[in-house]
This record gives sequence, structure tokens and C-alpha cells, in this order.
Amino acid sequence: MSGTFWRIGVAGLGTVGGGLLNFLADSPEFAPAGGRAAVTGVSARSRSRPRPFDISNLPWFDDPVALALSDDNDIFVELIGGSDGPAKAAVEAALKAGKPVVTANKALIAEHGAELARLAEETGAPLLFEAAVMGGTPAVKMLREAMVGDTVRSVAGILNGTCNYILTEMEAGERAFADVLAEAQRLGYAEAEPTMDVGGFDAAHKISILAALAFGCAPTYAAAEIEGIDQIELLDIKLAKDLGYRIKLVASADWSPDGVSVRVHPSLAPLSHPLAQAGGALNALFIEGERIGRIFIQGPGAGSGPTAAAVAADIADVMTRAVRPVFQKPAAALRPFTPVDPSKTQTRAYVRFMVKDEPGVIAAVSETLAEAGVSIESFLQKPVENADGVPIVLTTHAVSESVLMAAILQIEQLPAVIAKPRLLRIARI
Ligand code: HSE
Repeated sequence: MSGTFWRIGVAGLGTVGGGLLNFLADSPEFAPAGGRAAVTGVSARSRSRPRPFDISNLPWFDDPVALALSDDNDIFVELIGGSDGPAKAAVEAALKAGKPVVTANKALIAEHGAELARLAEETGAPLLFEAAVMGGTPAVKMLREAMVGDTVRSVAGILNGTCNYILTEMEAGERAFADVLAEAQRLGYAEAEPTMDVGGFDAAHKISILAALAFGCAPTYAAAEIEGIDQIELLDIKLAKDLGYRIKLVASADWSPDGVSVRVHPSLAPLSHPLAQAGGALNALFIEGERIGRIFIQGPGAGSGPTAAAVAADIADVMTRAVRPVFQKPAAALRPFTPVDPSKTQTRAYVRFMVKDEPGVIAAVSETLAEAGVSIESFLQKPVENADGVPIVLTTHAVSESVLMAAILQIEQLPAVIAKPRLLRIARI
């Protein structure tokens, strides 16, 4: 390293990379501990691709691993993305060489975080990833640093701006999912290949990371229960609203003596709840600590400026030589991840059945639920124009998910039920 001049290598020159280059060019002395930071090498898939920022004066590396290993930079910033491939190879190379790594790559940290933490701690290289979760809104530092005096038992929130935007627009414009998604893609709010976002996988990466930070366990993306918003119908958005709820893609992680549950589901939040109020592309998160109580943060979860600000905050941490374990505990002390038995999960639920409007249907549905021990909290039947049949919607008191699902399967077999029932959880928030 060369005194207080910190040389930054940046691999990946998309929206966030561009934001970072602009920021460091304008504010090289941004870090509170003093010193100066400047980009001294870049790498991306294509050198010649048109970009809204200038890289012509920056040393170019075809291979991100070569950039990670170059002696011409002191901090390696990985903005390539993807859980494996060049991003992983370059991060591993930098950490093995003892070079600090800053990354925005949630898939990499959620899927390989424990092994990368071991590598980082072996060589003493910081591995920082504030930008991986909630973009510019500081959730990672909050859990890793600000909450260490407490015992966190649950985190839950909205971690994917694309889904939040789509759900908000569906409700506001009374439009179908596919229609809003197509428009979001045209406007550049959603990726051309939207599965990571709308399938819930991006949110699952993020909540897996937050679970590790909150509970001191190894991040275990493979154990997450994941359901996206691609099957959400406008009808359910409207009916949920009639019952006093808004549908949000809620990612949650809960600790109990039996283990940890990490889940992403479209869920109902009461209309007045802060999660229901977080509209558009906003992200929002509750953290529940035993002593501190509930904390709520909300802010942008994506975008060039906010995400680059989070990357810069991590660069500043390296410049201040802050030393912290990668997750909440040193890698060797991270608890193994013990998933809770899903059959023991209790939930309150919203269930919609499409049925023929004929005598005895409601009685048959409620009888089956009663026999299964499912207690109904509210019930709504509402004729819908241009629909075959009529929706009957109910919400339940807390019930074992497996018991509820078995009862729903039984109801699905009734001759009067004309479509697959729709189950949505009511968020435990
Ligand atoms: N695609 C993410 C979102 C942003 O829509 O929230 C980057 O994590």
C-alpha cells in the first residue's frame, strides 16, 4: 500500500461500477479517516461497450483475476455478480493474496459466504458486502456492528425493489402481473431475464445473508423456502385489500431453539403496517432485538448512486483499518445452520377458492376446515365480473402449515371447486 493513497481495482462496470467511478473521481477524499482513494484499474466483459462514463484513462484488465492479484491496487471491488464463475475466482484470488475485497454480490456471499469468510480470516483480508443487501440502505453494518450488544431473534422485510414496484403498480393501475412486468422491463426497472427478482431468489440471497449476520450462523441459501410473485393475481390483491391487507414479497429469518427459518413468500401485511406502506421500489426491514426491541429501516435497495454509496462506505472501512469478523462471529465460530422442521411452522393464512355459486359449497369448505382443526378468522364471498364461478376467501387463525395444506388439498377435490386454491401467508410482523 502506498501511504494514505488507496488504489482501487474495480471489476464489473455496470450501473454500480459507473456510480462508483464517478463518485471516487469527484470525491477522492471522502473517507472520514483521511486518505485518498482513486480507481487504478478496471475490468469488465467488454472494453468497447458504450458506457455513460469514461474509462479510457484507466488501466484495463481482460481478466478480473489478474486485476484482483495486481500490485497496482490495494482494494479489490467486485461488481461482476453471479455466485460462481469469474466473480468467485477473482474474490478468492484477492482474499488468498490477503487483499481487502468489497463486493455487492449477494449470490456469492449467500452461497459461498462461509468458505470465503474462512479464507478472508486466514489471511486477515477484510471481506465487506454492505451493497449486497438493500443497496444504499445500511442493513449489513446495522446487524454486523450496531446490533452486537443485543441478541437478534428475527429480521423481516421487503428486500427486492423490482417485486415491490410490480406489486405497487398492479394495485395502483389494477393491472395484471405480466402487463406490469413487461412495462417495467421496457422502462429498465426489471431485467430482461426477470426470474432472479420475480421468482424470489434475489430476496432469498439477501435474507440468507441477513440471517447469518443476525444469528451468527453460516449463510445457507440452499435452506431457504422461496416463493416469488409471478403467480400473484390482481384478484388476490383486490380481495386482500377488502380484508384490510396489502400483498408484499416478504423475506424473513427467525431464530428459535429448534433452529432457523429463512423464507421468502408473497405475504399479507395490514394496510397500516409500515411494510404495507413501503411502496414502489423501496426496500424496508424490521430487526427485532431482545433488548433494543424493534428497529425499522427503509430506503432505496438498488440504483447507481445508492449502491455505489454502500460500496464506498465499505471502502472507507478498509481505509480506517476497521477489523471485524466477516459475519457476526469469526468464521470458525459460526453456528451450523439448523433449519426448523417446516411441518412445525405455524402461520395465519389467506386462502381463496374459486367455486361454483351453488348451495352447500361454503358449508362443505368450512366443514373440511373444521374437521382439520383450522379455525377461520374472517370469511368473504364476493362476486367478480367476467369470472367463471365466485371466489370465496377466508383468513385463518394460526395453524400448522402442513395441516392447512392438507385441508386445502381435500377442498380442492370437491366437485364445486373449479380452480386451484390460492394460499398466501399473513406476515408475522
Ligand atoms: N434487483 C434488485 C432489486 C436490486 O430489484 O431489488 C439489486 O439487488
